[in-house]
Amino acid sequence: MSAASDDRAAAPRQRILYGRRSARPLRAGRRETVERVLPRLRITLPQGEDPLDPAALFDPAPDGLWLEVGFGAGEHLLARARARPDAGFIGCEPFVDGVAKLVQALDADGIGNVRIFMDDARNLLERLPESSLAGVFVLFSDPWPKTRHHKRRFINAPVLALLARVMAPGAELRIATDDPSYLVWILEHLRRADAFEWLARRPADWRRRPPDGPATRYERKAIAAGRECIYLRYRRRDPIRVR
Ligand SMILES: C[S@@+](CC[C@H](N)C(=O)[O-])C[C@H]1O[C@@H](n2cnc3c(N)ncnc32)[C@H](O)[C@@H]1O
Repeated sequence: MSAASDDRAAAPRQRILYGRRSARPLRAGRRETVERVLPRLRITLPQGEDPLDPAALFDPAPDGLWLEVGFGAGEHLLARARARPDAGFIGCEPFVDGVAKLVQALDADGIGNVRIFMDDARNLLERLPESSLAGVFVLFSDPWPKTRHHKRRFINAPVLALLARVMAPGAELRIATDDPSYLVWILEHLRRADAFEWLARRPADWRRRPPDGPATRYERKAIAAGRECIYLRYRRRDPIRVR
């Protein structure tokens, strides 16, 4: 792994979002729900380079704001939002089919504390105010196992710098993966990131999913296929370590 090439690959304004935006046309019922509900939930970034005011997205203003990057079909985000109706949740997911599933579930369950950013999470992170997030979930982000694709991995030095800025001191960053090579990459990048402290004390801490949230769809498939899933919890240091 090369930190330098990894940094260059993720430099702002040279970003490319890899992966699918859609798989197939939405079924009529789901399309109708998305057209009716999504405009109320969808986050549009302010013009120019102005920051986004995340509290203004919710009414009433939320007691804490959580972000999930790449929520897939949204089951984890849905469960979190249901468990904390007083808090606000932002989900980033460019894959339309996944967004449609979440929107339909939010509508069916009458859950009103989720907002959706249908683009690259890095574009949102850049526009969030400093210390605005109480926690961030990056669960099973694409592992891009081929060496020539490593620069596409979501966890990298520039993203960790963005997260360090927008996460409040003491906020938790939760990362999960089932890919051994991505795991090594993640551990190595977080070890070098002075803003984050790994909270694990014993192997059970990374071998067992924290009990306060459900398994994701990808995670269930990984376990069914016999792959081990690893769960990493980091805290945003206060103050940031100086070396
Ligand atoms: C392997 S899937 C995992 C989905 C879900 N977290 C789960 O565990 O079931 C990774 C997801 O991240 C999304 N994704 C990839 N790059 C992203 C980015 N830069 N910003 C936001 N989402 C992204 C993809 O569209 C995909 O749905």
